[in-house]
Amino acid sequence: MDDRLARFSESISFDHRLYKQDIRGSIAHAQMLCRQKLLNQAEFDAIQRELLDIESVLDRGEMPFKIELEDIHMHIEQALIDRLGDVGRKLHTARSRNDQVSTDIRLWVRDSLDQVDGLLKNLQRAFLKRCIVDANVIVPAYTHMQRAQPVLAAHYWLAYVEKFARDRGRVADCRRRVNVCPLGGAAVAGTSLPIDRSYSAELLGFDEVAANSIDISSDRDFAVESVFVLTMIAEHLSGWAEEWILWSTTEFGFLKLPHAFCTGSSIMPQKVNPDTLELTRGKSARVIGNLQTLLVLLKGLPLAYNRDLQEDKPPLFDSFDTVIACLELATPIVEQAELQPAVINARLDQGYLDATALMETLIARGMPQRTAHHKVGALVAIAKSRGVPLNELTDAELISVDATLDASIRSTLGVAGAIKSYVSFGSSNPELVETQVENWNKRLA
Ligand code: ARG
Repeated sequence: MDDRLARFSESISFDHRLYKQDIRGSIAHAQMLCRQKLLNQAEFDAIQRELLDIESVLDRGEMPFKIELEDIHMHIEQALIDRLGDVGRKLHTARSRNDQVSTDIRLWVRDSLDQVDGLLKNLQRAFLKRCIVDANVIVPAYTHMQRAQPVLAAHYWLAYVEKFARDRGRVADCRRRVNVCPLGGAAVAGTSLPIDRSYSAELLGFDEVAANSIDISSDRDFAVESVFVLTMIAEHLSGWAEEWILWSTTEFGFLKLPHAFCTGSSIMPQKVNPDTLELTRGKSARVIGNLQTLLVLLKGLPLAYNRDLQEDKPPLFDSFDTVIACLELATPIVEQAELQPAVINARLDQGYLDATALMETLIARGMPQRTAHHKVGALVAIAKSRGVPLNELTDAELISVDATLDASIRSTLGVAGAIKSYVSFGSSNPELVETQVENWNKRLA
């Protein structure tokens, strides 16, 4: 092989990360070969012993990587042959690197998905703890980044708990399709040797055996799907990061970020910069890009294995690394940030957050919605022209808009009244929010 091709085609520089999965897969394969009398017991024992020792060499970082050996599969097999000669040469019986690499990646993705699920659960718990810490704090909810209606801070935090719950649901769905065993598909058509695919699948903890050897050789759906799941997590984290960057500005003043996760400026002594959140927002771009890379990589590939597939690993690994790093930092930030109720409360009467609750009071009294919307709009206009909140309108001003607007409507004015007036399931009604917090506490226990 020309050196230039060796350098061009190697994957050891990135697929060495699969060594534990490769060794686990090889031991299971050898154990199956032994049960099927394709290896004898002494041969299996020697193969298992040496593979475990090769693993410890790799653990210590003591295996020299050579591009002529292309990938981690060949490095491990060659090390085995160096130690065992012909017995080592038997390991690759009824196997191809095509089913081997797919097995290794699936084992790696399965473990990594479990890690992501655990990190998402920790993040959900951090938001849930905030619901207790910030109990009774009312914040404005925004639509179009304009003040819309008052909500409990806990209701806000639960919105993120829900998003991460859907992410965890996608992790679980994806894991089911990842956890299917390709081993024994061989190169593309299966094998004439008497293997037992169910047994190797069972040894590796797979739930099912993939049913078509041609599909096995070509399938990377599970890689794309897992990167999509990660992309959705990155999108959620990016939106949250953007929001908390805004909330921590002097202009908002809603939130104090923990200084251990912020940086300063070399020239401006007063600066506390939200770099972790900015990088979380920025790194989502890589994950989105990786999804695109995988989709384009697979587009138009004929059956079955094509060497293009070797390019699946860098975007796959990078997506997991990036999202795991973001999740590891998000949790302590959520735990340690401090909401600033004094600042938030001081401005809660700005933005007419109670206008919708007032409109709904009029509707409940029998006024058509469009009319009520118009009347409250007129009240807001009067209040705005005087620079006062709705509950400072005079009786005369109320009556001037509609004869039925007497002082009794005042009970729904102000943000606290508006919060209590919500009744629908999923709303920010304090009792409903408390029930949701209790339910989530049970679900995440
Ligand atoms: N390094 C290759 C990859 O990652 C291993 C599979 C190679 N198979 C082959 N038939 N050349 O895809």
